Amino acid sequence: MTVSEIQDAILTLKKEKDFCILAHAYQSQPILEVADYVGDSYGLSVQAGKAAQKNILMCGVRFMAETCKVLCPDKNVYLANPVAGCPMADGIDNDALQKLQAQYPGYATVAYINTTAALKTLCDVCVTSSSAVQVCRALDADKILFVPDPNLGSFVAGQIPEKEFAFGSGGCPRHFCVTMEDVAKAKALHPNALLLVHPECRPEVVEQADFVGSTTGILSFAEKSDAGEFIIGTEISIVEHLQFRCPGKRFYPLAVKLTCPNMRVTTLVDVYACLCGQGGEQIDLPPDVLSGAAKCIEKMIALGG
Ligand code: 13P
Ligand code: SF4
Repeated sequence: MTVSEIQDAILTLKKEKDFCILAHAYQSQPILEVADYVGDSYGLSVQAGKAAQKNILMCGVRFMAETCKVLCPDKNVYLANPVAGCPMADGIDNDALQKLQAQYPGYATVAYINTTAALKTLCDVCVTSSSAVQVCRALDADKILFVPDPNLGSFVAGQIPEKEFAFGSGGCPRHFCVTMEDVAKAKALHPNALLLVHPECRPEVVEQADFVGSTTGILSFAEKSDAGEFIIGTEISIVEHLQFRCPGKRFYPLAVKLTCPNMRVTTLVDVYACLCGQGGEQIDLPPDVLSGAAKCIEKMIALGG
């Protein structure tokens, strides 16, 4: 089958079987074209809660499918490719968080959404890269323990100097790899380009940026900007998506190592197979995890919306 034949089959099946397809902005172009909604982690969470269909297919990574299940416990939620995990989310478990919380009594715990649903049951609120500043500012707490990404955490802390922050350890192995040397090389190659980066990058890289934002934030900044050239400091797929959206502008990756294997692993055929009942994984979470994580995610939407 060709790509467009598979896409046509997916569009027919999703109507017949009452599926809503949600895709993170890092997914491949053929998947974005069949999705009902494409967005960053915050947008996907809000959209999951609004879906009218009884089945949701998440094209992204496991914590995103878990978030959907928490927000729509009565719907059938599927992860298109079961091996799509996130090393940041898998890097901190409940025991490790409880030890950290014991070191910081009196601090509210704020978790990046890139964590397991089980971990969220121990947290006061979660945040995404696009909602973090607003949520932490609005949170009724002067002391915040921010887990697991100290890069995003310190970016947020820098915007809210009136609050005291403590950080966990961990983060995104892809964004963490990017160094000042990569910035210098990219700027030397493209001296007229603006640098747009995700706040999961190291603070010294973020400091060099012309714009810092979530995946959706980077996409819309580049689309609206009058500038003609951009160095993109987030997962490499965003470079290709921007080239499709803005054929008159030029986009360059900050570093080729900004390639997330977990975001790349889901294919159009995985989506098709899942709709045929021959692939994917149905997400099931225990009742205490559903209710505990729901409080944390719903509070983010209430404070961040
Ligand atoms: P956002 O979609 O919130 O920008 O997050 C990026 C990411 O790393 C998702 O895994
Ligand atoms: Fe996880 Fe980083 Fe990949 Fe996002 S880009 S899924 S944070 S490893």
